Amino acid sequence: MIRTVNITDSIHYIGVNDRETHLFESLWPLDKGVAYNAYLINDEKVAVIDTVKNTKMEDFLEKIQSIIGDKPVDYLIINHMEPDHSGAITAMKDKYPNLTIVGNKKTFTFLENFYRPMKPYLIIDEGDTLNLGSLELQFFMTPMVHWPETMMTYVKGEGVLFAGDAFGGFGSLDGGIFDDEINLEFYTDEIRRYYSNIVGKYGAMVQKALKKLLGAGLEIKVIAATHGPVWRTNPDHIISLYDQWSKYESEEGVVIVYGSMYGNTQKMADYLARRLADQGITNIRIYDASKTHVSYIISDIWRFKGIILGSCAYNTGLFPSMETVVNKIENSQLKNRYLGIFGTASWSGGGVSSLGKFAERMKWEVLAKPVEANSSPKEDDFNQLDALAEAMATQLKGQEA
Ligand code: FEO
Repeated sequence: MIRTVNITDSIHYIGVNDRETHLFESLWPLDKGVAYNAYLINDEKVAVIDTVKNTKMEDFLEKIQSIIGDKPVDYLIINHMEPDHSGAITAMKDKYPNLTIVGNKKTFTFLENFYRPMKPYLIIDEGDTLNLGSLELQFFMTPMVHWPETMMTYVKGEGVLFAGDAFGGFGSLDGGIFDDEINLEFYTDEIRRYYSNIVGKYGAMVQKALKKLLGAGLEIKVIAATHGPVWRTNPDHIISLYDQWSKYESEEGVVIVYGSMYGNTQKMADYLARRLADQGITNIRIYDASKTHVSYIISDIWRFKGIILGSCAYNTGLFPSMETVVNKIENSQLKNRYLGIFGTASWSGGGVSSLGKFAERMKWEVLAKPVEANSSPKEDDFNQLDALAEAMATQLKGQEA
């Protein structure tokens, strides 16, 4: 038996959990699962907002039927075409052949390229409305949050915003679906990981979308994203988090990430961390890039202001696991961080110098002189690490004041 989850009397949650998939987009660990959220409005006309990944289409169709019985679905609104949300469109069209698919011009290019033509289409644009009987929907284009076709659907009067990937997060919804039913600390970590892994590159577009929605004077009572909890009690909380992250705002703290083949670069990382603690820095995270997936590392890099990267030399270049980390940072175009650099060289250099080039490309402020030990750190190297730790702590504490 399926018990429906109501957001309002006529708006229902019909999302599904995925605890089987190991890697989201075949890249990002899902050890805590993920939810593909979709919604149904049961008005004079029936509208479904977004679908789910194709592996979950049966559960999804069953949920729809449990609410509307033999009534047909009139509209399928596609806020986002990435296949974790569009995977059941074909199945819906097969089940409800008279369905009208609603999207913007770009939506249908993706639809036909990924699947097949499924006319009739209702092509909408910025600010257009769609009447379902007693409820009226309004559409807002929010390109690149997360793909070019992404848009949001707002239910006038009810104040429900179907937001697509924006405001979403990792983590399956284990019983609790609404923000007042869950442990916020757990989901905040998973939401920041999702933001930094998936949406972070598009901070400027997130800002543009926020300005558009808030500038339009929408009264947002509920944020219903395609992943993560539904925010019905405190939607301002998730708006504020997305606002901070997309402006690259950060907390006082230092993330030290290193790649070390035989423990010498690691020794320097531990030394640095201890010296930072001596100077009153309490948020210190050390990651071995070869052990911790970059997904978790980038999430903490998004959180904290100080970043210290260390690498041994490997075949005259950067250690491969550190290359993954710096590539992800660079691809995300993260801004406004203080950077420290350290590492080791042996029969060649290449690790520390590559990190220096990375810093130039990122235009981050490099604190103190990069510290490069010859095979293993000696007294002079430790002295230089002291200077780096002091410079970082001074900057962070100065910023706090
Ligand atoms: Fe959850 Fe961009 O798809």
